Amino acid sequence: TGYITLDPGYGNTGSCESAITFIDGEKGILRYRGIPIEQFEQAPNFVEVAWLLIFGHLPCPDEYKTFSDDLTATANLDESMKHHFEGFPRSAPPMAILSAMINALSCFHPEFFELEDKDDFREAAAGLISKVRTIAAYAYRQSIGLPYIYPNPALRYVPNFLHMMFSQPYAEHVCDPLVRDALNLILLLHADHEQNCSTSTVRMVGSSQANLFASCAAGVCALWGPLHGGANVAVLEMLEQIHQGQISPEDYVRLAKDRDSKVRLMGFGHRVYRNFDPRAKMLARVADNLLPTLGVHDPLLDIARKLEEIALEDPYFIDRQLYPNVDFYSGIILRAIGIPTNMFTVMFAIGRLPGWIAHWWEQSETQGTKIARPRQIYMGPNETDHVPRGERC
Ligand code: CMC
Repeated sequence: TGYITLDPGYGNTGSCESAITFIDGEKGILRYRGIPIEQFEQAPNFVEVAWLLIFGHLPCPDEYKTFSDDLTATANLDESMKHHFEGFPRSAPPMAILSAMINALSCFHPEFFELEDKDDFREAAAGLISKVRTIAAYAYRQSIGLPYIYPNPALRYVPNFLHMMFSQPYAEHVCDPLVRDALNLILLLHADHEQNCSTSTVRMVGSSQANLFASCAAGVCALWGPLHGGANVAVLEMLEQIHQGQISPEDYVRLAKDRDSKVRLMGFGHRVYRNFDPRAKMLARVADNLLPTLGVHDPLLDIARKLEEIALEDPYFIDRQLYPNVDFYSGIILRAIGIPTNMFTVMFAIGRLPGWIAHWWEQSETQGTKIARPRQIYMGPNETDHVPRGERC
């Protein structure tokens, strides 16, 4: 096995060539198909970004209309899928429901298995992006014992999601353009991030020629963990712990520096960024604008600011180049919009889906793609003999 190079966590292993997203971690640069992420801030439109990532260019009006029409046409779930939701306990983690339901979708839509051409793929992509939002809303409604709200064909992607979540009993913020823009921005900022853990999972599963739905269901599971998408929940839990007086911000940071404590400053640090995560900067601005406008004063925002201030001046974090990442502020915004904490990672998944789809398609269109099959360095015993059951121990 001398020829195998060990690279735990693949920190220095390029797994593919890709034309979708560029990151310069030293400079804090993120670009979708060459467009700097900051340029999406003024008029955030998640659907447009989804198209851009998947098809490689900003949609022209006809393409945008076709894609929007596809999203509208496919928003409903097969009625019998409702029984699946009822099969879960109310306390079921919504990420478990999401991945199960994405897999279930492929049973209801066998036409999405055999993608003959780009049009088939476009319809499958739109179907998945649209239905995932309905699944998320139904999972939420089921968890609190409220009736499902059908998608409204007159509404666009984000307002329709807010409608399915909150329009009954009516929540006023559902129609607020600021809320709509904030959610569009959150989703599009999560839309792709090159070969992160969940996207690599989607590619890994897809490399065996598993279908789009099975590959994305696996992506949801990879995203769930607290070091990846689950960090947005962990950040909120950390802020709550401090807010409830269980620990001070200073002591929390002290604990996060102690390796033996196994505690980390959640929402800080990144494998690629050795500088500010540009998404965190943008979300900090959204939090600062949105909360006062909605009349929300969230003490957790003050605590987050305090933690950031302490950490950014601390040599431990400076030396290791640890800065706030996308998860540090996103939860505070989602909370202000009324999204419960256990749905945060689901929101990340809705946002990341276009990226997964884009990578799955890019890989399947690449000539000569091989099944992903890493090697290992074997550390177990040398050849040894089997011992009959009665002679063991
Ligand atoms: N708090 C305290 N110490 C940290 C942190 C943190 N958040 N992040 C990294 N470190 C330390 C780590 O202990 C290590 O120290 P030493 O060199 O003394 O052993 C050093 O920094 C390098 O850390 P690493 O774990 O080797 O870095 P990594 O690239 O493997 O991990 C990370 C990246 C994001 C998993 C990690 O920074 C982390 O656990 N952060 C907290 C969880 C989090 O916010 N995750 C969201 C990531 S962004 C969105 C996404 O991808 O989903």
